Order: sequence, then C-alpha cells, then structure tokens
Amino acid sequence: MMRVDLSHAKLTKDIASYQEAVNEAHKWLHEKSGQGNDFVGWVTWPNNYDKEEVARIKEVAAKLKDQTDVLLVCGIGGSYLGARAAIEMINGLYPKNGPEVIFIGNTFSATYLKQVYDYVKDKELVLNVISKSGTTTETSVSFRIFKELVESKYQDKAKERIIATTDAKRGTLKELALKEGYETFVIPDDIGGRYSVFTAVGLLCLAFVGIDPTVVLEGSKKAYEDLKDPDLSSNEAYKYAVARRILDEMGYKSEMFVTYELQMTSIAEWWKQLFGESEGKEGKGLLPTSACFSTDLHSLGQFIQEGQKCLFETLLWFDKMSEDITFPHEEVDFDKMNYLAGKKLSWVNEMAMKGTLSAHEEDGNVPNILIHLEDNSAFSFGYMIYFFFKACGMSCYLLGINPFNQPGVEVYKKKMFKLLGKE
Ligand code: PA5
Repeated sequence: MMRVDLSHAKLTKDIASYQEAVNEAHKWLHEKSGQGNDFVGWVTWPNNYDKEEVARIKEVAAKLKDQTDVLLVCGIGGSYLGARAAIEMINGLYPKNGPEVIFIGNTFSATYLKQVYDYVKDKELVLNVISKSGTTTETSVSFRIFKELVESKYQDKAKERIIATTDAKRGTLKELALKEGYETFVIPDDIGGRYSVFTAVGLLCLAFVGIDPTVVLEGSKKAYEDLKDPDLSSNEAYKYAVARRILDEMGYKSEMFVTYELQMTSIAEWWKQLFGESEGKEGKGLLPTSACFSTDLHSLGQFIQEGQKCLFETLLWFDKMSEDITFPHEEVDFDKMNYLAGKKLSWVNEMAMKGTLSAHEEDGNVPNILIHLEDNSAFSFGYMIYFFFKACGMSCYLLGINPFNQPGVEVYKKKMFKLLGKE
C-alpha cells in the first residue's frame, strides 16, 4: 500500500541504528506509557471504533444529503482539515455528486464569511459544528452567525438541520445541543483534534459526499496491521520517522511535502498541521512546508534548486490516480507538441517527477524521501492517514516531544482575548 524509498535521501546514518529507540517509543504508543498518553486512543481506533456511531453517521447523512445543497462544516484545525483533505483527495476539486461542502469556523475574515453567507442563504443547508472543546472562538463566531441563518430559514425545523460533533459529556456546545435537541456525535476523550479524522469529525462529512466511512476505516485497519511491528526493516512509517530525524540532525531544518496532484493541496495542509502542531515545541521540530509540482516548480522551484540548503523534500507519489487523459494529435503540429501525441498525461506527470527528482537530488543536492501510495481511493486515504499518525507519533517521541498537546497555541489566544475584552 505504502512504500518508503530512502535511496534519494542522502542519509549519513544507518536507520537501523535507531532500532532500540524506536522499540521504546513504539511501546509508549501501544502501551500508553509515553508523554501525552491520555491521547493515544487513535492507535487502536481502527479495531475498536464505535460501530453503532458509524452506522448512525451513515443514516443521518443518507437521510439529509438529498435535501441539502450545501453542507456547512464549522470547525478549525483538526476539526476540519482532515475532512477537507479526504474529500479533495478522493472526490477531486470539482465533484460530480453530493452536496457542496463549504468550510467555515476557521477564520475571522468578515469578507470570506459574508461572501459564504450571501452564496448559501437561499440554498438548502445543513450546518455541522465541530469542536472538541466547544469554546474555540473562530468556530463559535461562525456558528452563531450561521445558526441564526439556519434558524431564520427553517424556524422550528432548524434543529433538524444542525448537527453538533463534540465531547461526549462536557462543554458549552454539548449543553446547547442537548437543550436544542440537535443530533450529536462524539469526539472521544482520548483522541485529540488532529488525530480525529477517523471519528465523526471526518466521517460524517465524508458520508454526506458519498465516501463510505467503513472503507476509510478498513484502510486504517490495514495500516494498523502493517505497522504494528516496530522492526525498521518492515515498518514503513517508522522508516520515514527515523529518516526525518537523521535529516534534522544533518542540519536540514525544514521538510517540504511535495505532491504532483493539485487535489492533494489540502492533504499537504492537513500534514503541515499534524507535524507542525505535534512537533514544533521546546525550540525543536522541523518546519513543515509544502509544494505542489509541477505547478510550484514555476514559483518555489528556483529556491529549491539553487537557494539556501535548509530543506529536504518528502515526495508523496500516487502510483495510480483515478483519471487519465490521452494527449491529442494535430495534423498541423502548430505548437510542436506532437511529440507527446498519444501519450497519457499520467506518464507526462511521472516524467516530470523523475526529472525533477534528479534535478533536485543530483544537481541541487536536496535530499528526497520518496513515499509511494497505491492510489487516491477511500481505502488508501484511510491507510495513508494512519501511516502519518504513526510516523508523527514516532518522530515526536524520538525527539523527546509530547506529540499530543499544543501549549504554544494558547499564547496568541490570551493576547487576542485581552484585546477583544474577554473576561
Ligand atoms: O489538533 C488540535 O487539537 C487542534 O488543531 C484543534 O483541533 C483545534 O484547535 C480546534 O479545537 P476544537 O475542536 O476544540 O474547537
């Protein structure tokens, strides 16, 4: 399913030298004995997720999706990035079926929110508010504005069009949902925001757009099975984690996540949050950045090729994508492009990847970790997400960092609240 190729990574150390440290950190993850051990519920989730809740997710989505033009997903960080990434990876940027999904609750931008408001106000809506804490300001601001819209449109039927995904017992959102009679779904106590896409946080949204949650979960289960042995000769996620650590030690302080598919841009955003929020602590961690090639070869490509040697690339390559195009032949070769006539664009993209890899690695001296993923199906999505969860947990533990908290995020909030006059 997923294969890590380190032959372009220029590692100066053997990954096997980390085996002992990896064994130890693996125990912390699986035996819940490391830093942040209250939040490792995601490790065994593919085996013990709540089947009834998943059945209810499917039922609710099936009941509402045909009466919905726009699903408004209101959440920030781990409460929306995974769902967005999944929809784009699996269904593409211009999906043919299902309601449109619009993300709110992730910004204070009045212009964005007003434009969304005007765009959706005469459409059939469902509003899914997602917040584990129930108190995140960006989410609360959008929720109040769009809740009022749903209430004014649907009056006493509004509660049938608002769904709250939040903590099982606590929080203001839970209290409101109980009072108003909203359908609610649970974010488990032991799963943090950025590790929550396999819960209702991601799955409800996927079910709305025709992606079967069970298939995604089966993909994660296969990854669980494949990655439960810490042996570095077979555990691809740990191989990747160790390679990142070696490159960090070698002085590469930024990791650029690269894909060759525009519909993977949100996967890159999700990946940046996962690694950035998990690893960037105590003055440590790699700066996660991203690029989509060949598009960004015409922007960042120059820097990567000849600029400061501060980064390595992690290239996620899809062995097979769901669509292809054969390049047309023209009788009069006006643009001198007939040399590609009859060729598949997937092949052209692959040649672009191979040429770029060689240019960056050999001429630019930029290390590359190459990760192969089979395809962009729902199953592969589930597999890939679990792979990165595992790699991230391991990377952080190897660095002596708690992967599951984000204390630094509170600093901006405190200063902002003071300016906003919050008690
Ligand atoms: O990964 C995390 O924990 C964060 O990014 C949260 O998901 C984000 O801050 C939103 O939090 P909440 O779901 O409590 O609104």
